[in-house]
Order: sequence, then structure tokens, then C-alpha cells
Amino acid sequence: MRLRWLLFIVITFLSCSPANNELNNTAIQKESLALHPGEALFNAYCNSCHNDVAMEDARLAPPMLAIKQRYQNAYTDSTTFTKAIIDFVSHPTQEKALMSNALQKFNLMLPMEYPEQDLVQIADYIAKHTFKHPSDRPLTAPIDLESMTAMEKGQYFASSTKAVLGKQLMGKIHEDGTLGALAFCNLHAVHYTDSMSIKHHVAIKRVTDRARNAENKANLAEAEIIDTWKQVLSAGKKIEPLLESNADGSFNFYAPILTNAMCLQCHGTLDDIQPEVKNALQQLYPADHATGYGSGELRGIWSIHWP
Ligand code: HEC
Ligand code: HEC
Repeated sequence: MRLRWLLFIVITFLSCSPANNELNNTAIQKESLALHPGEALFNAYCNSCHNDVAMEDARLAPPMLAIKQRYQNAYTDSTTFTKAIIDFVSHPTQEKALMSNALQKFNLMLPMEYPEQDLVQIADYIAKHTFKHPSDRPLTAPIDLESMTAMEKGQYFASSTKAVLGKQLMGKIHEDGTLGALAFCNLHAVHYTDSMSIKHHVAIKRVTDRARNAENKANLAEAEIIDTWKQVLSAGKKIEPLLESNADGSFNFYAPILTNAMCLQCHGTLDDIQPEVKNALQQLYPADHATGYGSGELRGIWSIHWP
């Protein structure tokens, strides 16, 4: 029964996508039926920066095709290949990086905390999937929001906003040090979430129970989600994003914002924060509640709403 449904979905999908008509339908059906468990994880965690859609000047990172080729040259069997990917992503350092041009152009990949078992799936997906080169796509290929489920849309909005903010922050820390980056966050963080909102016609907020900027304070509903998710984290479980559909057909989507080592330069304990950064924070935010965090804690949530 389930198989029949899947087939139905695959066939319906194929019939809406004219480019595939030329291809061998049986082969595609086989491939689509066996969706790799790492695919959704890759799309949620990596695709916002490593996609094959963004053209050269809009890129945040090298496309995965280029990374895969570089890693396959360096690591010829599949075990060392996946191990090297997992090793880099768990802890990106300049020494481990193979792609010196990318390093120069984009700066070192931001450290992010992913569960080990997710990375295993993602690395295996990268090893098996045939990635496209951006130039294989039409120049204007938009991300096809229409064909996404509401959950996928929410994840896309959250991860692309995070990617833009993360890139700017990372770049500023490299260029101007933590103090310079602080001035940037103070002036521009709100502006960036705004520009993403305008681009996608959705309301994107970054809210918290312990605000630095009082405008980012969670409302009651959001505060409840934060409380629940803190319990999930302290039970050692993984937080799943939350989608609510409203009676008027609109959606609310929530996803966690977790700290990593880099965040502690400005959100860590008073010992983690450099004295001059501490001073600047005291001046800019006399009522700052956003220090004292460790790595891997819930700093806040994305709260996203669209009609
Ligand atoms: C916020 C943007 C961003 C996200 C999200 C991201 N990356 Fe990256 N990644 C980069 C950038 C920038 C580089 C290029 C600079 C470098 O090599 O560190 C990179 C480089 C890499 C490299 C090659 C590193 C080298 O030079 O050897 C691998 C492998 C990689 N990423 C894997 C992943 C995987 C897997 C995910 C998802 C779990 C992911 N990345 C998510 C930005 C990102
Ligand atoms: C260079 C210093 C700096 C770093 C590094 C930094 N932040 Fe912030 N963060 C700030 C400042 C300043 C604000 C207040 C921005 C404003 O006024 O809107 C802020 C605000 C926030 C907010 C909005 C809620 C609030 O308290 O106002 C979140 C969520 C947040 N940061 C998460 C993070 C995470 C997660 C990281 C690491 C990936 C990080 N930050 C790294 C300086 C920093």
C-alpha cells in the first residue's frame, strides 16, 4: 500500500516536470523510491551555503560538486572520504581545509554543531549523490518555493537567513576582530533579518528569553516553546523544528538557534569575553541578558510567519 502511494507521488511529480520526460522513467522511479536518509538532512543543514543553484556572485560557499571532487581526489576510498568530510564539519580548521581558494574567498566554514549520526548520513549522501554544477542550470533558476511543503519552506527561510547572517558575522570577525564585529551586529543584525523577510515576503524574527536587544524578546507563545526546547536539550535529545498551521491558512514555523564556540566571544561567560568587548557591550546594552552561555545551548529561536 505504501509503495503504491510512493509510486503515485513519484509519477505525479514526474508528470509536472517536463524536463524529465526525455529521461528513462523507470530509472528515475527506482532512484526516487530509494530516497537517501541523508538527503533531507543535507537540504536542511548544508544546502543553504553549498547548493548548486546560486550563481558565482551570490555564493556563500563552494558548490558541493566542487567539494566532492576535491575530496575524492584526496581520499580515494569511500571510508576515508566520508571520514574526512565528517571530521572537517565537526571541527572546521584552516589546517584541515583542502580548498585554499575557497578559504580565501569565503573564509573558514562556521563551526556548527550537528549530531554525529546526522553527519554520518550526510557524508554518505554526499558520497552517493550526483551533484550538479551551477552552470548546468538556467541562469535564473529560482528556488522553487511552490513545490516545497510548509515544513521545507520554514527550514529554507530559517537556514538561508542564518546563512546570510552567519556569513556577514564570520567575515566581520575575520576582518575587524570581535570588537568590530560587535559594532556590525549592533547596527546591522536587525537589518539583515529584515532584508531576508522582504526577499521572501515572510516575517522572520530571531527571539530569545534572554535578550541583549529588548526588541528581540520572545512573546508568550515563543517563550513557551523556548522552555520546552530547553528541557528537550537537557534530556540530551534533538530539537525538532515546529510547524503550526493557522485557521486562516497562514503558518508559524519555529527552529532552534544553538550556540557554538564562536558565539561565546560575545555571548559566553564574562571570562570568555575579552575586556574591551565586555566594555563595549556594557555601553551599548546596559541591560544585556545575553551572556553566560556555553557551547551547544539554546540561545533563542527563529520565529517565522507566512501567509
Ligand atoms: C553558513 C554557510 C555554510 C553551511 C551551512 C555549511 N557550510 Fe560547508 N563551507 C562553508 C564555507 C564558506 C566553506 C569554504 C571555506 C572552507 O573551506 O572552510 C565550506 C567548506 C566546506 C567543506 C570543504 C572544506 C575544505 O576546504 O576542505 C566541506 C567538506 C563542507 N563545507 C561540508 C559541509 C557540510 C557537510 C555542511 C552541512 C552539514 C556544510 N558544509 C554546511 C560554509 C558553509
Ligand atoms: C561579535 C559579537 C557577537 C557574536 C560573535 C555573536 N553575537 Fe549574537 N548578538 C550580538 C549583538 C551585539 C546582538 C544584539 C543585536 C541587536 O541589537 O539587535 C546579538 C543578538 C543575538 C540574538 C538576538 C537576541 C538578542 O539577545 O537580542 C541572537 C539569537 C544571537 N545574537 C545569537 C547568536 C549566535 C547563535 C551566535 C553564534 C553563531 C552569535 N549570536 C554570535 C553580538 C554577537
